[in-house]
Amino acid sequence: MQKQPEVMEKMMSLCKRRGFIFQSSEIYGGLSSVWDYGPLGAELKRNLKEAWWRSYVYGRDDIEGLDAAILMNPLVWMASGHVTSFEDTLVDCLSCRKRFKVEHVTGKICPECGGALTEARQFNLMLKTHLGPVEDSASLSYLRPETAQGIFVNFSNVLSSMRRKIPFGIAQTGKSFRNEVTTGNLTFRSREFEQMEIEFFVKPGTDEEWYHKWVEERFGWYISLGIKKANLRKREHAKDELAHYAKGCTDIEYQFPFGWSELEGIANRTDFDLKQHARLSGKDLQYFDEETKEKYLPYVIEPSGGVDRSILAFLTDAYTEEEVRGEKRFSLKIHKTLAPIKAAVLPLLRNRPEIVSLARAITAELKDNMKAMYDDTASIGRLYRRQDEIGTPYCITVDVDSLSDHKVTVRDRDSMKQDRIGVDKVKEYVVEQLKGAV
Ligand code: GAP
Repeated sequence: MQKQPEVMEKMMSLCKRRGFIFQSSEIYGGLSSVWDYGPLGAELKRNLKEAWWRSYVYGRDDIEGLDAAILMNPLVWMASGHVTSFEDTLVDCLSCRKRFKVEHVTGKICPECGGALTEARQFNLMLKTHLGPVEDSASLSYLRPETAQGIFVNFSNVLSSMRRKIPFGIAQTGKSFRNEVTTGNLTFRSREFEQMEIEFFVKPGTDEEWYHKWVEERFGWYISLGIKKANLRKREHAKDELAHYAKGCTDIEYQFPFGWSELEGIANRTDFDLKQHARLSGKDLQYFDEETKEKYLPYVIEPSGGVDRSILAFLTDAYTEEEVRGEKRFSLKIHKTLAPIKAAVLPLLRNRPEIVSLARAITAELKDNMKAMYDDTASIGRLYRRQDEIGTPYCITVDVDSLSDHKVTVRDRDSMKQDRIGVDKVKEYVVEQLKGAV
């Protein structure tokens, strides 16, 4: 893989040029480490979250979905340990005023300007807000730094409303917020980001087995959606790296252009969270096993992935440069399930109304089943190239012969194979090719 800055710069340029990712509030100079998803990015993100939801909430019998609020009772964050332990140790430069994590500086000299640094201070990463009209300590609230706690506080609700038995899991995707200090590398470390988390509740003693099962399951999931195995690895945390709640944790790392970095963490959170919530809320959160008549607090295995980091990994992995007849071209060989647009209909001649109306009719038919588009804004060569750049799996060309033989050409992005298909069979053909992806 090419090293930074080339690939990262190309990715950033592609993301902006083709409407995947924009800087937040760009016309005002942006907002550091906050990003917006453009039309294609929004589709990709929806497809990614949907693939995850389908794999776990629909695909398994032992997982329920949830959509908890971002704002929670502040006691949640006392119980979870985030008020006291979710901190970075930082130093400030007295000259340039930049702020650094203490582990990123040597001595007391600013790594950027050489100025003197302050003493190290603790900074909590949670974003604070106030609820209601009065900004006093009683109204203090936080934007959640992880979606997990919404699951823990709803453990009993889901257990009883869905008549669940241990082992079972609760899955949710949603926004989280952290006042990150280290920024850069596009969306990799954002202040507002999205997570896809499962809290899987198991009987204590079976936790190790489930932990290993989930590490394998999640590793395989990325590969099943097209990430190259050589760019993925597992890394087990050393004891001194573990989060305050974890007994063990394995990161799934991706080889980003800026180096191997965390894509997802699978942690054994033990009964830490349920125990803490039981203590602070005064509610009994134990599980009663009807068969063995045992009562216990379940242990929790947590596969916690980042939507934004996954998107960055899938885009980087799919980015392909080729030389075609002496010309540099690039395409996005992204999995069909994730591709923002599944099919594009391209008229060979845009000044022939019969061709245009046939192409538009085919597009309208495809739109019943998938995100499809019509494009006649450039020459056919350019139109193909544009679709390759955004990873559209199928391009359908309507030409002069289509008017007489009632057939169109369907081109496969990856094999470049072209099939001549009857106009009345196009939808059936494309849906068949995209089987499982729409
Ligand atoms: N509930 C556990 C938890 O939140 P984490 O390792 O802090 O664990 C889990 O975060 C995942 O969330 C990470 O692997 C990463 O994919 C994503 N993530 C965390 N912080 C992020 C940030 N600032 N920007 C983008 N993604 C982030």
